Amino acid sequence: MARSMEMRGITLVRDTNVPVYRQIYEHFRSAIRIGQLRPGDRLPSARRLAEEFATARGTIDAAYAMLAGEGYVVGRGPAGTIVSAGVGAVARDKGTKPAVHRSRVGAASSTGARLPGASNPRPFQLGLPSLDAFPRKIWSRVTARQVRELSVADMAYPDPTGFVPLRESIAAYLASARGIACTCEQIHITNGYQGALDLIVAVLLRRGDAAWIEDPCYPLAREALAAATASLRPIAVDSEGLRVADGVAQARRARLAVVTPSHQSPLGVTLSLPRRLALLAWASAADAFIVEDDYDGEFRYVGRPLPALKSVDHDDRVIYAGSFSKVLFPSLRLGYVVLPRRLIATFARVAQRRSHGVPALTQRAVAAFMTEGHFARHIRRMRNLYASRRRALADSLVAAFGDEIVVDLRHGGMHLIVRFRSRVSDSKLAKLAQAAGLAAEALSSRAVAQPCGQGLLLGFTNVAEKEAPVLCDQLVRAIGPLR
Ligand SMILES: Cc1ncc(COP(=O)(O)O)c(C=O)c1O
Repeated sequence: MARSMEMRGITLVRDTNVPVYRQIYEHFRSAIRIGQLRPGDRLPSARRLAEEFATARGTIDAAYAMLAGEGYVVGRGPAGTIVSAGVGAVARDKGTKPAVHRSRVGAASSTGARLPGASNPRPFQLGLPSLDAFPRKIWSRVTARQVRELSVADMAYPDPTGFVPLRESIAAYLASARGIACTCEQIHITNGYQGALDLIVAVLLRRGDAAWIEDPCYPLAREALAAATASLRPIAVDSEGLRVADGVAQARRARLAVVTPSHQSPLGVTLSLPRRLALLAWASAADAFIVEDDYDGEFRYVGRPLPALKSVDHDDRVIYAGSFSKVLFPSLRLGYVVLPRRLIATFARVAQRRSHGVPALTQRAVAAFMTEGHFARHIRRMRNLYASRRRALADSLVAAFGDEIVVDLRHGGMHLIVRFRSRVSDSKLAKLAQAAGLAAEALSSRAVAQPCGQGLLLGFTNVAEKEAPVLCDQLVRAIGPLR
């Protein structure tokens, strides 16, 4: 068992292969990144810290020198070592991970988890693609050209249903990548999945209408439905995905079912074929609609990506929702739905009344990115990268925790679940990890009406292979006392 020592909120583990200077460096770096230490704050004097930890002064100096070299701190001679004024900008300019600033608004969702957009990315953050691997040069070139070529006509109101060349590119992409046969007219561009859900709710749900939601589920989907005052019916998920028979038994006459068939969010299981067919049969019989949230269907590491539920939707009951948040990046706020034909006109009308569409420049840039072949290439590259990062994180977790954990590694998706053998609650573990600047989330926080088990949800897409062992050691230290 490793010996550890805690002082001033710094935990040092002695018998580990992470050197002490590295542990000190990591501690202050993450304190700066998550905003615990802010520009102008003073680090403890190197001499005093060395005395307190009974370590050599040179060890602390080495840690401070690394922080200074990366621009996190500046040495002010007798005045000490101070957190740099431009700490966020310095970290970003160097192409290292961006520094994190304390968020002023909306730091927590109703589930207690940080909203994805509330701060810059932290290690293990869920729902983010590998932002460090995005082809920024190509993207700049493509977007700059769109700005230059903007005509006067392009500056008028956009089509509320979306830019036609983008919709055509999406239809072609869905046919080959997701097995969906649809026309350009069926594609409606939205402000991400969140914008799609808002539209769906506005078009389809009336006060008191029942809607099925998976239990556990994606909290923002649940909130969007709850805001529509729909009567929410949480339906349990097992190893085959949504338990459709439970849904039929509990709320046969529901208007809507929101599901994540490719990789259930957050459990990662795939909706089995019999369940898919049962769900479609229920929707036809009940005159209901199904929202298929395919947020990360492209990312499958074992076998080929599964065809979408929409690809076997012969009665046109499925609203397929795709998002560019995972396949490109989330600040685009761009997504789309493939609509059943009977809903096309209503969606166009409601979209015009609500926001009159999505910014045209963004749509043009993404359309060009797709037609020039960058999109397909990027997804292929990311699938390979995520496969390696997923494996590296799983291996590093096992190396760091040994048989205290079981890593629940599904065939696809962008996160894994670590299940602990100890009986400590996952929300306590998640809080400790978050306090150390790690964005682990408790699986149990995703439950709606029934328990869904315990574990930590860890995103692997932003954990570089060589960083994985260091971050796992940090996680061990963060939750050490309780696990
Ligand atoms: C389950 C699920 N669906 C959809 C999305 C994408 O949402 P948006 O397009 O609004 O960014 C996410 C993002 O984290 C998600 O976790």
